[in-house]
Amino acid sequence: MDYNKKTVEDIEVSGKRVLVRCDFNVPMNGDEIADDKRIVGALPTIKYLVAKGARVILCSHMGRPKGEFNMKYSLAPVAKRLSEYLGKEVVLANDVIGEDAHAKAAALKDGDVMLLENVRFHKEEEKNDPEFSKNLASLAEIFVNDAFGTAHRAHASTAGVADYLPAVCGYLIQKEISIMGTALENPSRPFVAILGGAKVSDKIGVINHLIDKVDTLVIGGAMAYTFNKARGHKIGTSLCEDDKLELASELLEKARSRGVKVLLPVDNHVGDRYAPDCDDRFVDSADIPDGYMGLDIGPATVILFGYAIKGAGTVVWNGPMGVSEWDKFAQGTIGVATAVAESNAVSIIGGGDSAAAIEKLGFADKMTHISTGGGASLEFLEGLELPGIACLQDKE
Ligand code: 3PG
Repeated sequence: MDYNKKTVEDIEVSGKRVLVRCDFNVPMNGDEIADDKRIVGALPTIKYLVAKGARVILCSHMGRPKGEFNMKYSLAPVAKRLSEYLGKEVVLANDVIGEDAHAKAAALKDGDVMLLENVRFHKEEEKNDPEFSKNLASLAEIFVNDAFGTAHRAHASTAGVADYLPAVCGYLIQKEISIMGTALENPSRPFVAILGGAKVSDKIGVINHLIDKVDTLVIGGAMAYTFNKARGHKIGTSLCEDDKLELASELLEKARSRGVKVLLPVDNHVGDRYAPDCDDRFVDSADIPDGYMGLDIGPATVILFGYAIKGAGTVVWNGPMGVSEWDKFAQGTIGVATAVAESNAVSIIGGGDSAAAIEKLGFADKMTHISTGGGASLEFLEGLELPGIACLQDKE
């Protein structure tokens, strides 16, 4: 998808009330924010608007409260963290489109910042209800979408409001689409995509789209067993989508006919059951013994994948190589992360589990870009239109 959208810099914001959709759906540990990467990611746009003297009305969802006010999903901790980062008070409204939100928005002065409560406290949000969108839009004069992580959702606060207000993107969305867009359309070559995770069915769209773009496709994680079974390998009790075997063969054939190299595991770290304390061993991927399941890629595969990564101009990675939350089966993911961190390639990490693994290993600053979107970055890599971006004004 080739986007060329207007940004906050293309619209006069001084003295205007600006509704900014952020993705503050941060992981929580009780009342504590466990990871504030998404809050930090939103700061450049907020700071720009404050510096320009806009009256900033932030909004976001958090979790899935199913259309009901539920203080477990309140954005209060986010308002507090934002106040600390901005060095000024970010007032939290008690509601989204109620009296308090309208009164606080009307009272804003130039450079002030407020945050609405969780937009998903209203069921109309996820239904993209026009009346709800209109009411939300009536709080402001301009809409800025900077919620890349939610850009794949056609909800009232991500897309609906754009029917009622001039709509542009913030710096975070601009950065995400520019880095990932360049990787897809004009990559430094060789372009290597590394895909992991459990299910082929989750990644079919991405594989299909990337086969036309990449030079090498590296497949790890549990979905590799479906591909290896399709190639006639014995996979023991490894996870396999039997109804996707034919599709896996077709995708391998498609890659072959396009001249795309496909790398699959050559050895695996297997266990006799799905448990961290299972009886484990290293085996050849073509011959996983009966009663054993693959839980990670093996050391020879790490070398094979690492070699492709070392020579890459661009690497896009989405999905872990094994059960990376268990130390014993995290070595494959660590090995691949290390190879990406050591390479000179432009490195782009899709959000979700692979981003978490990179953070945990302390490699975050070695990557060119870690996307703040899990589902959104996957849909972007699939070449799908993201409604939260499609609704924004195009540059002339
Ligand atoms: C995410 O964390 O992927 C986004 O915030 C979207 O959340 P959702 O999957 O609940 O729509």
